[in-house]
Amino acid sequence: MNITLTSGKKVPSQEGKSILESLKKEGIFLTSSCGGKGTCGKCKVIVKSGTAESGSQMKLSQKEIDEGYALACKTVPSEDIVIDIPKESMLVVEGRIATEKSKDLLGLLKLSGADVDPPASRIVLQLPPPSLDDNISDLERLKRELLAHGLGCLRIHYRFLTGLAHTVRENNWEITLSTIESDDCHEITNIFPGNVTAPHYGIAIDIGTTTVVVYLINLTDGSLVDVASIYNSQIQFGDDVITRIVNATEHDQLKSINRAVISDINNLFLLLLETHELTTDSIDSFVISGNTTMMQLFLNLDPASIREEPYIPTANFFPLSYAGELGIKANPNTPIYVFPCVASYVGGDIVSGILATGMHRQDDVCMFIDIGTNGEIVVGNSEWMISAACSAGPCFEGSGIKHGMRATDGAIEDVRINPETMDVEIQVIGEGVKPMGICGSGMIDAIADMFLTGILDPKGKMQKESSDRVRDGEEGPEFVIHYGEENDIVLSEPDIENIIRAKAAIYAGFATLLSEVGFSFDDVQKIYIAGGFGKFLDIEKAIILGMLPELAREKFEYMGNTSVIGAYLCTLSKKLQGEAEEISRQMTYLELSVSSSFMDEYMSGLFIPHTNIDAFPGVKSLMSKS
Ligand code: FES
Repeated sequence: MNITLTSGKKVPSQEGKSILESLKKEGIFLTSSCGGKGTCGKCKVIVKSGTAESGSQMKLSQKEIDEGYALACKTVPSEDIVIDIPKESMLVVEGRIATEKSKDLLGLLKLSGADVDPPASRIVLQLPPPSLDDNISDLERLKRELLAHGLGCLRIHYRFLTGLAHTVRENNWEITLSTIESDDCHEITNIFPGNVTAPHYGIAIDIGTTTVVVYLINLTDGSLVDVASIYNSQIQFGDDVITRIVNATEHDQLKSINRAVISDINNLFLLLLETHELTTDSIDSFVISGNTTMMQLFLNLDPASIREEPYIPTANFFPLSYAGELGIKANPNTPIYVFPCVASYVGGDIVSGILATGMHRQDDVCMFIDIGTNGEIVVGNSEWMISAACSAGPCFEGSGIKHGMRATDGAIEDVRINPETMDVEIQVIGEGVKPMGICGSGMIDAIADMFLTGILDPKGKMQKESSDRVRDGEEGPEFVIHYGEENDIVLSEPDIENIIRAKAAIYAGFATLLSEVGFSFDDVQKIYIAGGFGKFLDIEKAIILGMLPELAREKFEYMGNTSVIGAYLCTLSKKLQGEAEEISRQMTYLELSVSSSFMDEYMSGLFIPHTNIDAFPGVKSLMSKS
């Protein structure tokens, strides 16, 4: 018996086992917060054909049941079935990509002038057993030994004392301590009987508005062991940060929004531990990166004032917190370091991104942009840095786009339109996977080629006679990127309007920030681009679209998700953690929403590539040839 996914992949169905279990055996992981008890409702699938026996479906509405939805954990196939996995149910574990990335990341650590020297470390001590002549307390005995090892400055919490007497005696006074170093002091976070030093692990997390990404890192050798990611479950409380803040404050849902992301994190890191047969005792630290609102919601802090002028967060620098305080299902004393933020709309993800690029060590003027849900920009070098947020919207992560999705298996990531034949060639992420939607890089490619081939005019309107693929859809004219067996994948005119608004905000943000500090695009020596575009972003196409300025191509560097890369670096290096703190102290913030020149720049950017075509001479010459 087989379970066939709508992507075309076939999975053997285990006799008497639920869909959830059969998929898991083949490395396909669904969200399953309740562990398969049928009570969280997160593991929904749609049974398209074939019969299956369904147990409790109490988490499904009647409408969902009528539409073929079933809980994968409570549904056992009785014959070959075909199922569709909604993107919200999907946990993505990217082990293969992780292994490939590991060397690059270690290289980046070295390139940043750092070694594997994590703030969280372990130390093994053999304490001399007490006697009538040496009758100091257990704690004094421990401190004496640590002092002999050069650890004079110690912070010890009451909660550490509760198991101390038992643990020191369990293995003949040999113990292993987990410690975390901050402000040149060591804090004891966990104690284990015997020698349990190697290997130990850290967890680096990027809480994006749209996705949550978790890295499992070996703290002994610095290797990236595995990666898992998921759509941020807070999406049910709004696609963007503002809607979530409104829901948290005006509808009293702060706790629920906080719980949603904590549950995502627990799902992801526990899955990674299970996959690699590790226990929570092997985890010594968490490092969390994300925008300011995500950080506040993660810490269960009221975000109301972030939204109201003068836009003030509760904190930009966060004290160390602990797993037990926040509901993270690790050892309760495991420390959690939250990246420092700069302002309400420039958060720890941007500080983390700058750390990953190394821009704060360069003499030349550089730019950094993180094209995520908001579009944050930084200009500067080793001496100064100024930042802004340009409200680009989450469309490049798939939100608000009819067939938009993030850069994961099934996403069309590359689109080419042949100008002679008007044929469309696509590339899809994942081997042998059918196209399921289109991600940011695919959207940029498609619109740039649609413009150059005359399918779109500079205002983003479709020219009906230009191609057989232009047709009338539910939301007006649409262009068929891919003809599917069941559903076609299209870009509609409202999708394109959305994308043009986002690219206009990005370009306007660049231009405004540079003019504020008295520079022009010509002064910029390097532009680092971060964002969830998958393997690559076609810079040429992004310039044709008018999202990026027309500069020499070698000045651009696409770096992927720099937020989680920065979190990886801080998990492994005390030195780089110190640099992150310094970056956030050094960076200033400019509020673009009150800038009239930003608004003017934005209006000029609502064309492909731009109202001022002379700023894009290369695109102008391409247009004249096409
Ligand atoms: S895993 Fe929770 S309902 Fe299926």
